[in-house]
Amino acid sequence: MLKLDHITKRYGALTALDDVSLNIAPGEFFGLLGPNGAGKTTLMSLVAGLRAPEAGGITLDGKPVTAADPSTRVSLGLVPQSIALYEDLSAEQNLRIFGELYGLRGADLRQRIDEALTAVQLADRRRDQVKTFSGGMQRRLNLVAALLHRPKLLLCDEPTVGIDPQSRNAIFDFLEARVRDGLTVIYSTHYMEEATRLCSRIGVIDHGKIHALGTLEELLARLPFQEEISFPASPLTAGLAARLAAHGEVTTGGDQHRFHPAPGFKNSAFYALTEELELSSRLFISERPTLEAVFLHLTGRSLRE
Ligand SMILES: Nc1ncnc2c1ncn2[C@@H]1O[C@H](COP(=O)(O)OP(=O)(O)O)[C@@H](O)[C@H]1O
Ligand SMILES: [Mg+2]
Repeated sequence: MLKLDHITKRYGALTALDDVSLNIAPGEFFGLLGPNGAGKTTLMSLVAGLRAPEAGGITLDGKPVTAADPSTRVSLGLVPQSIALYEDLSAEQNLRIFGELYGLRGADLRQRIDEALTAVQLADRRRDQVKTFSGGMQRRLNLVAALLHRPKLLLCDEPTVGIDPQSRNAIFDFLEARVRDGLTVIYSTHYMEEATRLCSRIGVIDHGKIHALGTLEELLARLPFQEEISFPASPLTAGLAARLAAHGEVTTGGDQHRFHPAPGFKNSAFYALTEELELSSRLFISERPTLEAVFLHLTGRSLRE
């Protein structure tokens, strides 16, 4: 469906995408997971043909994407990171504008608008101005606006930032149903929970590079540890973190230390240490590692920075 071949994109001296190659098959729900500034929006804008790369090529559905030739844009829908709607117009009027831009008219357009509003539970607000909508409602409207012309590929750029949990779940359910119908989705996020729940394959991106690519299981299998013990980072636990470094890997992200025991390290040794330092067992959580651990392991950075 989509192929990025050695893409490099610079803004002046800053390299926003650094030799990125990527293949996305039809029907994939692909997650682009990375912190702010990683290059997610830049990648989407190149795929949408809104900007041109300095090096490399992109093909969408077999056709080269170029900023000069808008013909490939018919095959894709873009849900931009910042909401792009006309606030003073109603939900229905907004969808009409989007539809007409794609050449839709008459009964066909009316029917698509009805279906879209129903799908995201906005049918009863169709005549209300968008500026009276909550952030979540605006997001849902922006999402269906990008799909009115029934593209093959949907680019969703952080569509759930700052919205209520009900709207977030409505967006998840809606996207999952569209992917079951055959839509291909590229979904950027800095929430590992979202990538874990939604995506059949995940690309971990940071500083313009894709550091790892695979299913969640494949990414977790790259970790040199299968257990993770986390505890709050504080003066109280600083001594423990220092001592544990001799027995595995200790990483610090946000306000948490994470300890990944080296092979052969016994949990009894861990508890002996915590007893020696008089630390309550309630401070510690032991679990299977998550995508966050993969990210920290690959980049040395916390996703939540
Ligand atoms: N129009 C621009 N001009 C200059 N620098 C930009 C521009 N857009 C993005 N950048 C920089 O490029 C890098 C990647 O940005 P972006 O693609 O927006 O990342 P993300 O969407 O993952 O947060 C960041 O360092 C950002 O500051
Ligand atoms: Mg962005």
